[in-house]
Amino acid sequence: MNPRFERTATLMEDRFGLFIHWGLYAIPARGEWVRSQERISNEQYQTYFEEFNPSLYDPRSWAKAAKAAGQKYVVITTKHHDGFCLFDSKLTDYKAVNTPADRDLIREFVDAFREEGIAIGFYYSLIDWYHADYPAYNDRIHPMRGAESFKDTTGKDFNRYLDYMHGQVKELLTNYGKIDIMWFDFSYDDMTGEVWRATELIEMIRSLQPDIVIDNRLGGNIMAAEPEVYAGDFYSPEQIIPPRGIVNELGEPVPWEACITLNGNWGYHAADSAYKSPRQVVRALVECVSKNGNLLLNVGPDARGDIPKESLYILSAVGEWLRRNGESIYGCGIAELDKPEWGRYTQKGNKLYAHVFDRGIGPIYFQGLKGRIKRARLLADGSELKVETPWMAEQYSDTGSGAFIHLAGGDLPDELDTVIELELYSSETGELGGEKA
Ligand code: GLC
Repeated sequence: MNPRFERTATLMEDRFGLFIHWGLYAIPARGEWVRSQERISNEQYQTYFEEFNPSLYDPRSWAKAAKAAGQKYVVITTKHHDGFCLFDSKLTDYKAVNTPADRDLIREFVDAFREEGIAIGFYYSLIDWYHADYPAYNDRIHPMRGAESFKDTTGKDFNRYLDYMHGQVKELLTNYGKIDIMWFDFSYDDMTGEVWRATELIEMIRSLQPDIVIDNRLGGNIMAAEPEVYAGDFYSPEQIIPPRGIVNELGEPVPWEACITLNGNWGYHAADSAYKSPRQVVRALVECVSKNGNLLLNVGPDARGDIPKESLYILSAVGEWLRRNGESIYGCGIAELDKPEWGRYTQKGNKLYAHVFDRGIGPIYFQGLKGRIKRARLLADGSELKVETPWMAEQYSDTGSGAFIHLAGGDLPDELDTVIELELYSSETGELGGEKA
């Protein structure tokens, strides 16, 4: 089997993860790019370092919220583009331990999420706007781009930055036990691939954590027939769900995970109240799974260490839906049937899950399933549904193709997503079913 599929098998079974963007930028509360957008110097940003004291930080409550949300893995920003480290790196003083927080925030975090049985992922930014050896003047996103005082690059040594970056990755993958996901961000322009000494980095990572799964943002082309060794194990679209699944240039499926914010920002943004609804999130998760992908859903805790209440509400509502319908998500993937007009399908073996988003009028029509449904149940409560052609549908029950299921009531039992579990006759009889790659 393709080693990429072996490595990502568990992750792709898990389907739903929590992304956490947290750091000094929670204090200005204008998103995690505030330094670049407002061209804030290290000196100006230092004020946030000197006051960072998330006194309400309780990673156990975060972990419990993720568990209740049905999230099977978590990815946290150990260091974002601003260079501030939530972990106790011995390679820098620019870390939470040296702020009024006075603690290794990642140590407590890992312990709390492991306690809930949630797999651990570390986001680590390749970009570092604090480090003196990272390119600034000619860089197109650095906060000090074009600043006269940064024009003279005498003494700058990018290789020294790479030694630092590789060293921090080694610390993260050595000091915190088994890490399941390494989530790099991001390559751009000529800052990609071997410019990061990516092959050396990947070899070190795989020697420290042989089972770890790595995203594709170190560079290279994960869609190539022969991807570079550093091209990663999964593709990472952000703020979009790909129109179809992700396949490489040979047409082979590529593991993928869409990362999405709950409002419009990754990092805490006090003025951004444009939150998605639980329905939007449930349907985004279903869409990802229906296309063989995962959803990594983001929260941005505030400077006190609290996840915004709006985010907690959405996580809780999605978790309640998953508590009753999770069988249609976890371990499921693309179905052989085309997308129906009333919603989406997910499938696992001979279980086909009909995610009905649009009630329509009359019975639900299942193109191509005539005579193939062994039993139908409303997944949420296990109640039996009859597979029959009611009188008003008789003239439409085309031969050998469609099946009808009547749903009682005027509207859908669950307006987020009503799931019908269809057990199909087993694949031995050549019927629809069996694992789909
Ligand atoms: C973009 C943003 C970065 C964020 C990432 C999440 O790369 O620049 O701030 O962490 O998306 O995918």
